[in-house]
Amino acid sequence: MTETNRIFSGVQPTGNLHLGNYLGAIRNWVSLQGEYESLFCLVDMHAITEAQDPKALTASTLEGAASLLAAGIDPEKSLVFVQSQNPAHAELAWIFNCIARIGWLNRMTQFKDKAGKNRENATTGLYVYPVLMAADILAYKATHVPVGDDQKQHLELARDIAQSFNSQFGVDHFPIIEPLIFGTATRVMSLRDGTAKMSKSDASDFSRINLTDDADTIAKKIRKARTDPDPLPGHPDGLAERPEAKNLVAIYAALSNQTPEQICQEFDGATFSTFKPALADLAISILAPMADETARLRADPEYVRGILRTGAEKAREMSQPVLAATKEIVGFLAP
Ligand code: TYM
Repeated sequence: MTETNRIFSGVQPTGNLHLGNYLGAIRNWVSLQGEYESLFCLVDMHAITEAQDPKALTASTLEGAASLLAAGIDPEKSLVFVQSQNPAHAELAWIFNCIARIGWLNRMTQFKDKAGKNRENATTGLYVYPVLMAADILAYKATHVPVGDDQKQHLELARDIAQSFNSQFGVDHFPIIEPLIFGTATRVMSLRDGTAKMSKSDASDFSRINLTDDADTIAKKIRKARTDPDPLPGHPDGLAERPEAKNLVAIYAALSNQTPEQICQEFDGATFSTFKPALADLAISILAPMADETARLRADPEYVRGILRTGAEKAREMSQPVLAATKEIVGFLAP
């Protein structure tokens, strides 16, 4: 079993990373990277479970890496790498495909959401997507996985796979991972619809704040964010039936490292014409410098590629013994 605590997490490099990715995951990665041995992965193999334009995928993989570095992921403390540059993920995923049960995958709500009505036409990759996630994590015997709320069910499946592997072969080989879902913004909602998750796939760019948006764009998106006509309540209980207002308060709380209670107290009785400019100023003060840094790194793609190359080399070294031992347990003849 793993002696040290090790974290693994990933983000799909499709389009821009957004405020939901930042508050739900990346910010927590930054705060954990000194405490745990850390691996952060741009999961391009997950990205192709839905059709991607090849050139755009290459560009957004580099851009995603630049955003992670700009957000504070420190390559001296963490490995940052691209999933497809370590074949161990795909190899272990195949072994796990022979452990996971169809019944388990049929329960995955994200597959149902993404496949929609046209389920017969979804790729088999989209169906086994969570199996590849389990392989991502367990190829390094990672013990902790910091994610947003929407990945919880996938991580439960990864636990089931690890447990099932261990019991089928009578070994104590894979750790039972712990999800780390924390902070006040584990599920950031769309700025256009407080009942829908902020997401890269939303057709409207006004639904999300991208980590590459400049100050003017951030201000405009917050100004145009959907709200209701009422002033803010003195306590978060008053936000229960007001999803858009609740979301903006949660974003403010997360960005200022306070609780929704503190924000409601501070803005008790304020209208959105007061709250929105305050939120815009706060968001710009944190996000605009990150966008500038991403732009600076974008101008130096060789630097970013070098970090990814080193990350992938180290990742391959780390997963090699885990994969060799796994193959031996399964009974594959050693070369
Ligand atoms: P992805 O690319 O959709 O999102 C990356 C991370 O951001 C979080 N997140 C959010 N958090 C709060 N509010 C939101 N609106 C929001 N949108 C996204 C996600 O929870 C995630 O933590 N399947 C994963 C990537 C992955 C992975 C892994 C994660 C692949 N292998 C292994 C952990 C471990 C995904 O598509 O994330």
